[in-house]
Formats: sequence, structure tokens, C-alpha cells
Amino acid sequence: MPLLPESLPETIFKDDGTRLDGRKFNELRDLHIEVGVLKNADGSALVCHGKNRIIAGAYGPREVHPRHLAKSDTGILQISYRMATFSVGERKSPVPGRREKEISMVVGKAIEPVLFLEQYPNTTIDVFITVLTADGGTRCASVTAAACAIADMGIPMKDLVAGVAVGKIANRIILDVSDKEDKWEKGGATDMPVAVMVNQKQYSLLQLDGSITVEQFEEMLDLVFEGGKLVYEKQKEALRRKYSTEDVGR
Ligand code: CDP
Repeated sequence: MPLLPESLPETIFKDDGTRLDGRKFNELRDLHIEVGVLKNADGSALVCHGKNRIIAGAYGPREVHPRHLAKSDTGILQISYRMATFSVGERKSPVPGRREKEISMVVGKAIEPVLFLEQYPNTTIDVFITVLTADGGTRCASVTAAACAIADMGIPMKDLVAGVAVGKIANRIILDVSDKEDKWEKGGATDMPVAVMVNQKQYSLLQLDGSITVEQFEEMLDLVFEGGKLVYEKQKEALRRKYSTEDVGR
């Protein structure tokens, strides 16, 4: 384990135009999803996106605790996003920080539109997300994981939600920014994490950190939608894999 932080390379694109890890501008990092990985959760998912390792456990719809949070006309969705202390280079405090609270809220907002919460008054759907290893884009991978964990519970959903980011680095627009790429540009790269509801052709999350022109924004939206479709295919594959091999009636 190096004692000093890894130094950043001088250029972020190779001579042939590919990225440091060999990807083209429109390529995702390796993405592997497994559902049903936690025996004691109602639904669960493991997302390996690049070097991110993120696990989500979903429960419900179940009684709300504390009870005063319950709503008599609808169910609620409660998301808890946490980073393990060993998930990043510098030890992260085990106490949930402001960033974790913000990401919990953001992931919830991204997932809510695909649920029929009004059909489950007085109940909650709880999703606990733990980042085991972080490699940039954990909020997007958490959206992907939470949607799969909820789908794995078997409740009706309008769509899946696929998380993916698009960024602008060295004035070039690239899909699925890695941690190294994000940290490369001095003053910070432009990063736009997005959650895509592919079948609805809608976005349920769009954050933007940095500055871009309107034309670049449109280009980024197109690229990230295509990225969302790739993530969505992997989500479907993972769910199919589980349900096509599971013993029925056990
Ligand atoms: O993870 P995401 O890109 O959605 O959120 P971020 O707040 O923009 O963080 C970017 C990256 O910084 C994370 O994915 C981690 O790899 C890293 N990070 C870290 O090293 N230490 C932290 N305490 C928080 C984030």
C-alpha cells in the first residue's frame, strides 16, 4: 500500500484518443451486477462498477419506525447510503457525514418515481447501501444497486433506474468518469451524475458540478442516456439470471 497518494498522469488521453484505462469516450467501465446476494434481506444487489463495490439490501413494504414518519395516504422510501471506513484511500469516519446524508436523499429521489408508494400507506421501503470500495461515481452505482435490490423484492415497478455519470475533462465529453479522471483536472472535472428511467425516457436525477455550454449539455444528455441503456441491460440480465435459475415453489 503506497504511503503517498498516487500521482496523477500528465495527460488523461492517450495518443490514439482512448482513455487511460483504454476506454473510448462512450464506454462504460466493466459492470457486473448480482441480485439476491443477501440471505436476510427481502431484496438485494451487488454492483461492481469499475472498482466500485456496492451492496444494497432492501426491506418492505413494512411498518415504519419511528412511527411518526408514517404517512396515512402513502408509503415512504428510506435510503441509507454509507461508505465503509475502508472504502476510500484515507480512512473515512464511521459517523455518517453530510455527503452521505445528501447522497441518501438524492438516491431516494431518483428511485421514488418508479415506485407505486401510494399503494402501501403507513409503510416504508428501506434500502441500506454500503460502499465497500469507492472508485468514483458511487452515487450512480448506488442508484443502480438500490433499483435492483427493490426489483429483487418482487414489488411492481414502473421501470428500473440506471445510474451513470457523464463528464467533461480536458474539454472532452466522456461517459462514466472514474475517480482518477474526476481528480485529474485541476479545480475539478465537470461531472454530471444522472439516473435514467430508460423505458420512460426520463431522468430522475441530474446533478451538475462544473460549467458547460448548452451544446455540451445536450451532447452530455444524449451520451448519458445511451450509457443508461447499457446499465439497464445489465440490470435486466442480473434479474433474469436469478429468476430463471431459481427453484420455483421452494
Ligand atoms: O462517488 P460520487 O462520485 O458519486 O460522489 P463524490 O462525492 O463526487 O465523490 C467522488 C469520489 O471521491 C468517490 O467516489 C470516492 O472515490 C472519493 N471519495 C473519497 O475518496 N473519500 C471520501 N470521503 C468521499 C469520496
